[in-house]
Amino acid sequence: MKTDIEEDKLNKVFNYHQQTKHGFHRSAEGPGYLDWKNQPDPFRRYHGTQLISLPLETEIESSLYDLLYYPDGNLTQAFNLQTISCLLRHSMALSAWKQAGESRWALRVNPSSGNLHPTEAYLLSPALDSLSSTPMIAHYTPREHGLEKRCVLSNALWQLLTEDFTQPVFFLGISSIYWRESWKYGTRAYRYCHLDVGHALAAISLSAASLGWHCQILENCSAHQLRILLGLPDDYKDETEHPDCLIAITQTKIKRPVLSLPDQVIKQIALCDWQGEANQLSRSSISWDAINTIASACEKPATELTASTQVKTIEKTAQLFYSTLKAHSVIQQRRSAVAMDKQTDMQADQFYQLLSRLMPGQVETPFNVFISVARVQLIFFVHRVEGIKPGVYCLIRDPEVLTELKLLMKKEFVWKKPKTCPETLPLFCLIEGDVRSLSQQLSCQQEIAADGCFSLAMLSRFEKTLQQTGAWLYPQLYWECGTIGQVLYLEAEAMNLQGTGIGCFFDDPVHEFLGLQDINFQTLYHFTIGGALHDDRILTLPAYNISK
Ligand SMILES: Cc1cc2nc3c(=O)[nH]c(=O)nc-3n(C[C@H](O)[C@H](O)[C@H](O)COP(=O)(O)O)c2cc1C
Repeated sequence: MKTDIEEDKLNKVFNYHQQTKHGFHRSAEGPGYLDWKNQPDPFRRYHGTQLISLPLETEIESSLYDLLYYPDGNLTQAFNLQTISCLLRHSMALSAWKQAGESRWALRVNPSSGNLHPTEAYLLSPALDSLSSTPMIAHYTPREHGLEKRCVLSNALWQLLTEDFTQPVFFLGISSIYWRESWKYGTRAYRYCHLDVGHALAAISLSAASLGWHCQILENCSAHQLRILLGLPDDYKDETEHPDCLIAITQTKIKRPVLSLPDQVIKQIALCDWQGEANQLSRSSISWDAINTIASACEKPATELTASTQVKTIEKTAQLFYSTLKAHSVIQQRRSAVAMDKQTDMQADQFYQLLSRLMPGQVETPFNVFISVARVQLIFFVHRVEGIKPGVYCLIRDPEVLTELKLLMKKEFVWKKPKTCPETLPLFCLIEGDVRSLSQQLSCQQEIAADGCFSLAMLSRFEKTLQQTGAWLYPQLYWECGTIGQVLYLEAEAMNLQGTGIGCFFDDPVHEFLGLQDINFQTLYHFTIGGALHDDRILTLPAYNISK
């Protein structure tokens, strides 16, 4: 039985979701114009803290790209300054500066809607060789590739905090500053921030895998606990950072599904001597009621382990498609395509291998960062894949929804497996034909959705999932989509193509095209992959060691 409060929160989620849909004739409410002078600073700093510089070059050799998806324990690195630097360098750091005329802007390893980067990262570490002589909580600063020491913990407190773990562990905490996105995108920004969280989670999980480490979100943590652990202020001012999740990083896979952090210890951490004051990001900020309301409705309570959140252990065999490619070079070269060339083809076997990397049952990383996933099915608009007829296809990531989707979607869909499709891939053709203009139209008329090899819509099981679990799961539906997006970005790079996340799409027209009438399934994110066109007028400069 749900309480009135839980019912009210769910209604707020459904209202927000409805209200922030883009349609052919109506867009989600935005600021109307861009107030450039007031653009939020993409770099958070804590004034008055000690900055620990992380080494940019390390001796650590990159694992093979393919092995990211199946960490096998052969390569496990120790926890120390070098390896933690390497983890952050290949997940949340800068990857380049770009320059056009007078303006210069930074790009990062993790992508972000509009390059606005609302996601912040924090390290919670034990005393580690050459990093810190005591356990500490520190804020990661991507521009400097450094750590701002915010709080020192005693060894005794660290031991109490991690007593549920039977092996060495450290944590990365993730938070979001919604104002960085709402400055440009208004009410829809909350969605984009959580897609960005999903990208960051996958970036961290894959970077950790390159060091032989395992990541798992501590799913039962409450936002209140997290806020304390990350040292975030407890208010809802417009520039406020909202805590998202805490990732436990270990050298061997955590066997127990949910590990908890003791409340008593968290209370003691709140009383520690916290250093530093967060910088102000813009002169003034606009308060979006819709965002404040959804953020408070989705505030994560402490939750118990339930039967539906058991870890599934599946035997996965490494598939080596790109035998010589190094993980770190693929990760560092990831870029969003701004335009596609309308001509590059992909081969059917490349397409199938990419799909296999999106199946939680067929790869280990990055989907193992969550305890339960596969709430998201994928609808492909195939344009240029040699050996596969153009048309609309559905990849079923959760076998349990197949029957339901067949019943709910249009009757004329054929649900036919392509002849060349491997046994192991539940891919179905729904309808054949040239769907380039359809796909462009549905993705807010963006040409990138039509001019590449394919685009896709990520269709999440929506109303029932939220009814069963609670409003707090809403952001996590976006995290799963962002995680899928990050794999798509890297896979595109590995095959010499490029991807682009598409947060701007017309929600209900997608559902109408599929024949979906209620909110049982909702599209939450789009993506495209193809041969990219490059703009030679934009200079690329190294991420670090340049004069600014
Ligand atoms: C959640 C999300 C939504 C995005 N939506 C769009 C979009 O609708 N159209 C577009 O051209 N690019 C979109 N992008 C690409 C971003 O603009 C791009 O990631 C950003 O400019 C940073 O560039 P980079 O990915 O090369 O680091 C999106 C990216 C993300 C992560």
